[in-house]
Amino acid sequence: MSGKRGILFDLDGVLTDTARYHYLAWKRLAGELGLAFSQEDNERLKGVDRLRSLEIMLELNGMSGAGCFPPAKKQAAIARKNVYYRELIRQITPGDILPGIPEFLEELRAGGFRTAVASASKNAPDVLERLGLAERFDYVADACAIAKAKPDPEVFLVCAEALGLKPEACIGIEDSQAGVEAIHRAAMFSVGIHVRVTSIPPDLPLGSTGELKLERILGAAAQWSKHAGYGEET
Ligand code: BG6
Ligand code: MG
Repeated sequence: MSGKRGILFDLDGVLTDTARYHYLAWKRLAGELGLAFSQEDNERLKGVDRLRSLEIMLELNGMSGAGCFPPAKKQAAIARKNVYYRELIRQITPGDILPGIPEFLEELRAGGFRTAVASASKNAPDVLERLGLAERFDYVADACAIAKAKPDPEVFLVCAEALGLKPEACIGIEDSQAGVEAIHRAAMFSVGIHVRVTSIPPDLPLGSTGELKLERILGAAAQWSKHAGYGEET
Protein backbone atom coordinates (compact mmCIF):
# COMPACT_ATOMS: atom_id res chain seq x y z
CA MET A 1 0.00 0.00 0.00
CA SER A 2 1.51 3.33 -1.00
CA GLY A 3 0.35 6.87 -0.34
CA LYS A 4 -0.40 8.43 3.00
CA ARG A 5 -3.63 7.40 4.69
CA GLY A 6 -5.53 8.88 7.58
CA ILE A 7 -7.72 7.28 10.23
CA LEU A 8 -10.25 9.64 11.79
CA PHE A 9 -11.72 8.59 15.12
CA ASP A 10 -14.90 9.67 16.76
CA LEU A 11 -14.35 9.97 20.53
CA ASP A 12 -17.55 9.26 22.48
CA GLY A 13 -18.39 5.57 22.03
CA VAL A 14 -15.27 4.81 19.95
CA LEU A 15 -12.20 5.67 22.02
CA THR A 16 -14.08 5.46 25.32
CA ASP A 17 -17.58 4.75 26.57
CA THR A 18 -18.55 8.34 27.39
CA ALA A 19 -21.77 7.75 25.44
CA ARG A 20 -23.24 6.36 28.69
CA TYR A 21 -22.20 9.49 30.63
CA HIS A 22 -23.89 11.67 28.03
CA TYR A 23 -27.00 9.51 28.47
CA LEU A 24 -26.93 9.77 32.28
CA ALA A 25 -26.50 13.56 32.14
CA TRP A 26 -29.38 13.96 29.67
CA LYS A 27 -31.52 11.61 31.76
CA ARG A 28 -30.91 13.73 34.86
CA LEU A 29 -31.82 16.90 33.00
CA ALA A 30 -34.91 15.25 31.47
CA GLY A 31 -36.07 14.23 34.96
CA GLU A 32 -35.75 17.81 36.19
CA LEU A 33 -37.62 19.16 33.18
CA GLY A 34 -40.35 16.52 33.44
CA LEU A 35 -39.46 15.06 30.03
CA ALA A 36 -39.64 11.38 29.11
CA PHE A 37 -36.29 10.08 27.90
CA SER A 38 -35.30 6.46 27.34
CA GLN A 39 -32.08 4.72 26.39
CA GLU A 40 -33.62 4.09 22.98
CA ASP A 41 -34.30 7.83 22.57
CA ASN A 42 -30.66 8.40 23.47
CA GLU A 43 -29.55 6.49 20.33
CA ARG A 44 -30.81 9.44 18.31
CA LEU A 45 -28.63 11.83 20.27
CA LYS A 46 -25.36 10.03 19.67
CA GLY A 47 -22.97 12.13 17.61
CA VAL A 48 -25.39 15.05 17.70
CA ASP A 49 -24.26 18.36 19.26
CA ARG A 50 -25.58 19.68 22.56
CA LEU A 51 -28.28 22.09 21.39
CA ARG A 52 -29.63 19.77 18.72
CA SER A 53 -29.73 16.96 21.29
CA LEU A 54 -32.00 19.03 23.53
CA GLU A 55 -34.18 19.91 20.55
CA ILE A 56 -34.58 16.21 19.71
CA MET A 57 -35.57 15.51 23.34
CA LEU A 58 -38.17 18.28 23.15
CA GLU A 59 -39.47 16.98 19.81
CA LEU A 60 -39.84 13.50 21.29
CA ASN A 61 -41.97 15.05 24.04
CA GLY A 62 -44.11 17.09 21.63
CA MET A 63 -42.54 20.33 22.87
CA SER A 64 -40.75 21.61 19.77
CA GLY A 65 -42.87 24.77 19.44
CA ALA A 66 -40.87 27.99 20.07
CA GLY A 67 -43.31 29.00 22.83
CA CYS A 68 -42.57 25.86 24.86
CA PHE A 69 -38.87 26.43 25.26
CA PRO A 70 -37.46 29.87 24.39
CA PRO A 71 -33.76 30.12 23.33
CA ALA A 72 -32.53 31.39 26.72
CA LYS A 73 -34.17 28.46 28.50
CA LYS A 74 -32.56 26.05 26.01
CA GLN A 75 -29.12 27.57 26.65
CA ALA A 76 -29.61 27.29 30.41
CA ALA A 77 -30.72 23.66 30.06
CA ILE A 78 -27.75 22.59 27.92
CA ALA A 79 -25.34 24.40 30.25
CA ARG A 80 -26.80 22.40 33.14
CA LYS A 81 -26.52 19.14 31.21
CA ASN A 82 -22.86 19.95 30.64
CA VAL A 83 -22.29 20.50 34.37
CA TYR A 84 -23.78 17.03 35.03
CA TYR A 85 -21.68 15.50 32.26
CA ARG A 86 -18.50 17.11 33.55
CA GLU A 87 -19.18 15.73 37.02
CA LEU A 88 -19.32 12.23 35.49
CA ILE A 89 -16.21 12.47 33.32
CA ARG A 90 -14.06 13.43 36.31
CA GLN A 91 -13.78 9.69 37.05
CA ILE A 92 -12.27 8.84 33.63
CA THR A 93 -8.80 7.26 33.66
CA PRO A 94 -6.63 5.55 31.01
CA GLY A 95 -8.33 2.33 32.13
CA ASP A 96 -11.47 3.60 30.36
CA ILE A 97 -9.97 3.38 26.87
CA LEU A 98 -12.12 0.85 25.01
CA PRO A 99 -10.71 -2.64 24.30
CA GLY A 100 -8.51 -2.97 21.24
CA ILE A 101 -7.92 0.77 20.84
CA PRO A 102 -4.33 0.85 22.24
CA GLU A 103 -3.32 -2.07 20.00
CA PHE A 104 -5.00 -0.52 16.97
CA LEU A 105 -3.26 2.82 17.58
CA GLU A 106 0.04 0.95 17.78
CA GLU A 107 -0.69 -0.77 14.45
CA LEU A 108 -1.41 2.61 12.91
CA ARG A 109 1.75 4.16 14.30
CA ALA A 110 3.87 1.25 13.04
CA GLY A 111 2.23 1.55 9.60
CA GLY A 112 2.89 5.30 9.33
CA PHE A 113 -0.79 6.26 9.32
CA ARG A 114 -1.92 9.76 10.24
CA THR A 115 -4.57 9.97 12.92
CA ALA A 116 -7.12 12.52 14.06
CA VAL A 117 -10.04 12.86 16.45
CA ALA A 118 -13.23 14.06 14.75
CA SER A 119 -15.53 14.62 17.72
CA ALA A 120 -18.54 16.91 18.12
CA SER A 121 -17.76 17.23 21.81
CA LYS A 122 -16.45 20.47 23.27
CA ASN A 123 -15.24 18.30 26.15
CA ALA A 124 -13.04 16.20 23.85
CA PRO A 125 -9.68 17.75 24.89
CA ASP A 126 -10.49 17.14 28.56
CA VAL A 127 -11.59 13.54 27.96
CA LEU A 128 -8.49 12.80 25.84
CA GLU A 129 -6.29 14.24 28.59
CA ARG A 130 -7.94 12.04 31.22
CA LEU A 131 -7.51 8.99 28.98
CA GLY A 132 -3.83 9.83 28.52
CA LEU A 133 -4.41 10.10 24.76
CA ALA A 134 -4.04 13.87 24.30
CA GLU A 135 -0.65 13.57 22.59
CA ARG A 136 -1.47 10.37 20.72
CA PHE A 137 -3.14 11.91 17.63
CA ASP A 138 -1.70 14.07 14.89
CA TYR A 139 -4.73 16.35 15.07
CA VAL A 140 -7.77 16.90 17.30
CA ALA A 141 -10.61 18.87 15.74
CA ASP A 142 -11.83 21.84 17.78
CA ALA A 143 -15.57 21.27 18.16
CA CYS A 144 -16.03 24.97 19.03
CA ALA A 145 -14.73 25.87 15.56
CA ILE A 146 -17.02 23.49 13.66
CA ALA A 147 -19.97 25.41 12.22
CA LYS A 148 -22.09 22.47 11.01
CA ALA A 149 -22.63 19.51 13.30
CA LYS A 150 -22.76 15.84 12.24
CA PRO A 151 -24.39 14.53 10.04
CA ASP A 152 -22.76 17.39 8.13
CA PRO A 153 -19.32 16.17 6.95
CA GLU A 154 -17.48 19.34 8.11
CA VAL A 155 -15.57 17.88 11.07
CA PHE A 156 -14.26 14.95 8.99
CA LEU A 157 -13.26 17.22 6.10
CA VAL A 158 -11.49 19.60 8.50
CA CYS A 159 -9.54 16.64 9.93
CA ALA A 160 -8.53 15.38 6.46
CA GLU A 161 -7.32 18.85 5.50
CA ALA A 162 -5.39 19.25 8.77
CA LEU A 163 -3.64 15.94 8.06
CA GLY A 164 -2.85 17.10 4.52
CA LEU A 165 -4.91 14.30 2.97
CA LYS A 166 -7.71 14.02 0.45
CA PRO A 167 -11.01 12.80 1.93
CA GLU A 168 -10.82 9.57 -0.07
CA ALA A 169 -7.47 8.79 1.57
CA CYS A 170 -9.19 8.82 4.96
CA ILE A 171 -11.21 6.26 6.88
CA GLY A 172 -13.68 7.36 9.55
CA ILE A 173 -14.66 5.33 12.62
CA GLU A 174 -17.99 6.07 14.29
CA ASP A 175 -20.55 4.60 16.68
CA SER A 176 -23.46 6.85 15.72
CA GLN A 177 -25.81 7.13 12.79
CA ALA A 178 -25.18 10.88 12.52
CA GLY A 179 -21.44 10.17 12.40
CA VAL A 180 -21.67 7.43 9.78
CA GLU A 181 -23.75 9.75 7.63
CA ALA A 182 -21.16 12.51 8.07
CA ILE A 183 -18.34 10.16 6.95
CA HIS A 184 -20.44 9.03 4.00
CA ARG A 185 -21.10 12.65 2.97
CA ALA A 186 -17.36 13.37 3.29
CA ALA A 187 -16.80 10.64 0.64
CA MET A 188 -14.74 8.56 3.09
CA PHE A 189 -14.87 4.87 3.94
CA SER A 190 -16.81 4.35 7.17
CA VAL A 191 -16.24 1.82 9.92
CA GLY A 192 -19.20 1.51 12.30
CA ILE A 193 -18.81 0.36 15.90
CA HIS A 194 -22.06 -1.23 17.05
CA VAL A 195 -24.15 1.34 15.18
CA ARG A 196 -27.73 0.76 16.27
CA VAL A 197 -29.71 3.02 13.92
CA THR A 198 -28.76 2.36 10.34
CA SER A 199 -30.58 4.42 7.75
CA ILE A 200 -27.13 4.76 6.15
CA PRO A 201 -25.21 1.59 7.08
CA PRO A 202 -21.46 1.82 7.69
CA ASP A 203 -19.26 0.45 4.90
CA LEU A 204 -17.71 -1.92 7.43
CA PRO A 205 -19.95 -2.67 10.42
CA LEU A 206 -18.13 -4.03 13.48
CA GLY A 207 -19.57 -5.25 16.76
CA SER A 208 -16.99 -3.66 19.02
CA THR A 209 -13.67 -1.80 19.10
CA GLY A 210 -11.95 -5.12 19.79
CA GLU A 211 -12.58 -5.96 16.11
CA LEU A 212 -10.56 -2.99 14.83
CA LYS A 213 -7.82 -4.73 12.87
CA LEU A 214 -5.89 -2.85 10.22
CA GLU A 215 -5.66 -5.65 7.66
CA ARG A 216 -9.40 -6.25 7.63
CA ILE A 217 -10.23 -2.55 7.43
CA LEU A 218 -7.78 -1.88 4.60
CA GLY A 219 -9.07 -4.90 2.67
CA ALA A 220 -12.66 -3.67 2.89
CA ALA A 221 -11.62 -0.09 2.11
CA ALA A 222 -9.72 -1.22 -1.01
CA GLN A 223 -12.86 -2.96 -2.32
CA TRP A 224 -14.91 0.13 -1.56
CA SER A 225 -12.36 2.37 -3.34
CA LYS A 226 -12.57 0.29 -6.50
CA HIS A 227 -16.37 0.50 -6.50
CA ALA A 228 -16.29 4.20 -5.73
CA GLY A 229 -13.92 4.72 -8.66
CA TYR A 230 -10.95 5.96 -6.64
CA GLY A 231 -8.72 3.08 -7.77
CA GLU A 232 -6.94 0.77 -5.37
CA GLU A 233 -4.59 3.34 -3.93
CA THR A 234 -6.59 6.15 -2.45
C1 BG6 B 1 -20.82 13.68 20.70
C2 BG6 B 1 -21.73 12.80 21.53
O1 BG6 B 1 -19.58 13.05 20.57
O2 BG6 B 1 -20.63 14.94 21.33
C3 BG6 B 1 -23.05 13.51 21.80
O3 BG6 B 1 -21.98 11.60 20.83
C4 BG6 B 1 -22.78 14.88 22.43
O4 BG6 B 1 -23.84 12.72 22.64
C5 BG6 B 1 -21.85 15.68 21.52
O5 BG6 B 1 -24.01 15.59 22.59
C6 BG6 B 1 -21.49 17.04 22.10
O6 BG6 B 1 -20.75 16.86 23.28
P1 BG6 B 1 -20.47 17.99 24.33
O7 BG6 B 1 -19.44 17.37 25.26
O8 BG6 B 1 -19.90 19.18 23.58
O9 BG6 B 1 -21.74 18.32 24.99
MG1 MG C 1 -19.81 8.75 19.14
